[in-house]
Formats: sequence, structure tokens, C-alpha cells
Amino acid sequence: MAKKLAVIGAGLMGSGIAQVSAQAGWDVVLRDVTDEALRRGTDGIRASYDKFVSKGKLTAEDAEAALGRITATTDLDAASEADIVVEAVFERIDVKQEIFRTLDGLVRDEAVLASNTSAIPITKIAAVTERPERVVGTHFFSPVPMMQLCELVRGYKTSDETLAAAREFAEGVGKTCIVVNRDVAGFVTTRLISALVVEAAKLHESGVATAEDIDIACKLGFGHAMGPLATADLTGVDILLHATENIYTESQDEKFAPPELMRRMVDAGDIGRKSGQGFYRY
Ligand SMILES: NC(=O)c1ccc[n+]([C@@H]2O[C@H](COP(=O)([O-])OP(=O)(O)OC[C@H]3O[C@@H](n4cnc5c(N)ncnc54)[C@H](O)[C@@H]3O)[C@@H](O)[C@H]2O)c1
Repeated sequence: MAKKLAVIGAGLMGSGIAQVSAQAGWDVVLRDVTDEALRRGTDGIRASYDKFVSKGKLTAEDAEAALGRITATTDLDAASEADIVVEAVFERIDVKQEIFRTLDGLVRDEAVLASNTSAIPITKIAAVTERPERVVGTHFFSPVPMMQLCELVRGYKTSDETLAAAREFAEGVGKTCIVVNRDVAGFVTTRLISALVVEAAKLHESGVATAEDIDIACKLGFGHAMGPLATADLTGVDILLHATENIYTESQDEKFAPPELMRRMVDAGDIGRKSGQGFYRY
């Protein structure tokens, strides 16, 4: 029998995780709070499968079969049968804790509860449940169907068995995993990208170099596929600002203090590609 996955949040990441999992044979329940969010999510999945089909990387039959394995719903109870639940809602600890509290009372005792958080300590999410040893971070990257990495994060009480189950799931959907052994805010990847984006934004803000030149420096000087400010626009300046604020609050390390420019961009709605304007215009 196919294994059952529930994905909470049908946004950019949740829909991507649902997409690769259904393609790998999982029965997926995709849950969001509104029908509109679910429609956006499933439309995105369909469009992405179509693209893979047109490039000859997926057959039309396999795409149809994968779509047929995804059930979109606003009913959280639909997650009750899941072997693994991956939460991918807004990066807000209160929202995530509320979801984990509810899921804990809903899913089977053996089920693994995973969070796709970019920066919130898994231990703080796990602590609201009666099963902190069954809670783990599965930090996928955007766009999920294209990006190879999954960062697995151990909370303070995460068991070896849970980590192994998370690894089996992530590898099964085609990802390569790294393990974050200590539950520091921002883990490995968000700490690295936050430090780079904060410094890039500060250099830009103080007029040391243009956004274009900072990105060119990282691409041609360091061989990065994309510069930090273009990456911020792709990820969402708002998402990165929140992630950086979390790391700063937790670590009190000045290098993570978000620059005023990023705050004002978010205040003004210039949050990157999804708004048409970030460090660049789209
Ligand atoms: N965007 C990225 O590049 C990226 C990369 C890695 C990790 N993350 C993390 O993944 C998570 C999701 O990010 P995203 O970019 O997909 O966000 P998003 O804004 O695209 O989607 C979030 C979705 O969650 C839904 N939601 C809110 N409350 C909910 C609830 N109670 N139940 C069900 N759904 C609910 C919203 O309606 C929305 O559709 C965040 O924790 C983020 O930090 C994001």
C-alpha cells in the first residue's frame, strides 16, 4: 500500500513537496485554509508537471497518476491517516505551534511530524507536542522539484528512528540530505544565506556597490549560480527578513541584524519576484 503523506500549507513550498512526493508514489493530502490557496497550489503543480512532460522528463500518464494521488482539502482531519506530516505554512512560530498541537492529537502515535521551517528551532515546535522525539526538520529548497538538497534538523529530543524516517522520505523523493545535529536557529543553510544577504544588502544600502555588481561579484568571483540579492528576490525579501530576525533574536549575533533597507522594502511591499519588485524589477 502506498505510504501516506500530509502536507500542511499549499504555498510555494508545500505544493512543491506535494508534487515531488506524489510523483514518487506517495498518497498526498494537501491542506490549506482556503479553497483559493489550494487552487493556486494545485494549478502550480499541474503546470509544473506539464512542463516536465513537454520536456520529455515525465510521461503524461505518470503526471496524471501523480496528480490523482493528491487530495486537496481544507479539512485538517484528512491528515489523520498520514505516516508523515510535513508542515509548510507561514514562518511564524505561533501558527506552526498551533498546527503541531492539533496534529499531535490527530495523527497516529507512530507518525512523524516534520516542519519545513527555514529558521525556527525544531525544539520549540516539538515542545508543544507529546511526541518531541517524533518531530524533525525537513527543510526543502525552492523550487522543490528542481533543488536537490533537504536539510534534516534534529530537535533536542528527535530520535534516531525519526531522523532515519525523515531521511528515507526525503531520499525517496529524490533529495540529497545533510544533517544538522544541533538545533541552532537558521540551521546551516539559512545561517549562511542570511549572513550573505544581510552583508550584501548593507553594502547596497550604504552605496558601496549596486545590487547588480554585488550579485556579479558572487557569481563570477565565487562561482555562485545566483547572487545573494537575486536569491533574496526569489525566496522573498519578507521570508528572508523574518528568518534573519529569528536568527538574530536567538543568537544575538550582530552579523544577523537585519539592515533598515530590508525592513523598509517589506513595509513598502517590495518583497521580490512575487510582488514584481525587490532588489530588482520583474
Ligand atoms: N520560500 C522559500 O524559498 C522557502 C524555502 C525553504 C523553506 N521555506 C519555509 O517553508 C515554509 C512555507 O514557505 P512558503 O514560501 O511556501 O510560504 P507561502 O506563503 O508560499 O505559503 C504558505 C501557505 O500556508 C498556508 N497556511 C497558513 N496557515 C495555515 C494553516 N493553519 N493550515 C494550512 N495552511 C496554512 C497559507 O494559506 C499559504 O498558502 C515557511 O516556514 C518557510 O520559511 C521557504
